[in-house]
Amino acid sequence: MKIDPNYPTLRESNIGGLELIKRGKVRDVYRFDEGRLFFVTTDRISTHDVVYKDCIPHKGFGLTQTTIYAFNNTEDIVENHFLKSPDPNAMVVLETEQYPVEVIVRGILTGSAWRAYQKDGEVCGIKLPKGMKKNQKLDKPIITPSTKAETGHDVNITGSRARELVGSVWDEIEKVAIELFERGDYLASKQGGMLADTKFEFGKRGKYDLILTDEALTHDSSRYLNIEDWKTSFEGETEPDWIDKQLVRNYSEDLGFTGDGEPPILPEQIITGAAIRVLEVYHLLSGEELELPEEPPTNRRIARNLRKVVVKS
Ligand SMILES: Nc1ncnc2c1ncn2[C@@H]1O[C@H](COP(=O)(O)OP(=O)(O)O)[C@@H](O)[C@H]1O
Ligand SMILES: [Mg+2]
Repeated sequence: MKIDPNYPTLRESNIGGLELIKRGKVRDVYRFDEGRLFFVTTDRISTHDVVYKDCIPHKGFGLTQTTIYAFNNTEDIVENHFLKSPDPNAMVVLETEQYPVEVIVRGILTGSAWRAYQKDGEVCGIKLPKGMKKNQKLDKPIITPSTKAETGHDVNITGSRARELVGSVWDEIEKVAIELFERGDYLASKQGGMLADTKFEFGKRGKYDLILTDEALTHDSSRYLNIEDWKTSFEGETEPDWIDKQLVRNYSEDLGFTGDGEPPILPEQIITGAAIRVLEVYHLLSGEELELPEEPPTNRRIARNLRKVVVKS
């Protein structure tokens, strides 16, 4: 698909009539009603936990659709918070009490895990075999939890620290997270892709002590690769073409941005490259191309779609 870098984007939603609870890095969270939230996924992009001035066309749409696809295809593994999607960029979700841990599952030794391994031979307290190479596939997926920092950067912790923070449900979280990872990897493999790593968040509510929340298996929370590309680059010791935010990260790091101060303005080819990858992740998971909505994501469109469900429910 050809991406128009000037396609109208949604940087900040403003949905009159609903109380804004939080503007996250990507999502604007509103109160829908008692016990339910209205999640608007914007086109904002962040790396190093900092939000850029530029937006990525179709990102909020792609993330929302990928998450819904992922939820619909993992319901046999765990409950999730999704209730309905009144607008292509929005979801009504069950409000949960979030467990204060980000559950990162890795199938490949890369990124911060690779850096930790090089330094200490282990990642989040998990000892790995000697002599592993960058981007090598792990024998089996591992969980490297981190704490959800309100501001600043997330901090890696060990599994036993995570268990102290969330309680005995941690054992179930680990089991479910591995199954979710394997499902994502399996779905991507049908399109010649693989899941390198991903992050899940979980919450609890009432008698449900384990609910998959937030987003799942998206361009923002995951790294995907093409299997053939990974094999060739691993053998040739070059970097594969990451189907994630890596090209934005690389662009900024080459300019010296590592999270302090203002992030750079992104050139057109980085913006369109990121947009293509957002849509490619949906294709990798589902085997289908996303059809773009006729109307760009505007506050008017979202408010209009919201009105329809509020009147009905
Ligand atoms: N079901 C839920 N109930 C309450 N909070 C949730 C739920 N699902 C996700 N959240 C929280 O909503 C926010 C989503 O916005 P996001 O842009 O991802 O924020 P962040 O910058 O913290 O990543 C996150 O803080 C996430 O933990
Ligand atoms: Mg988030």
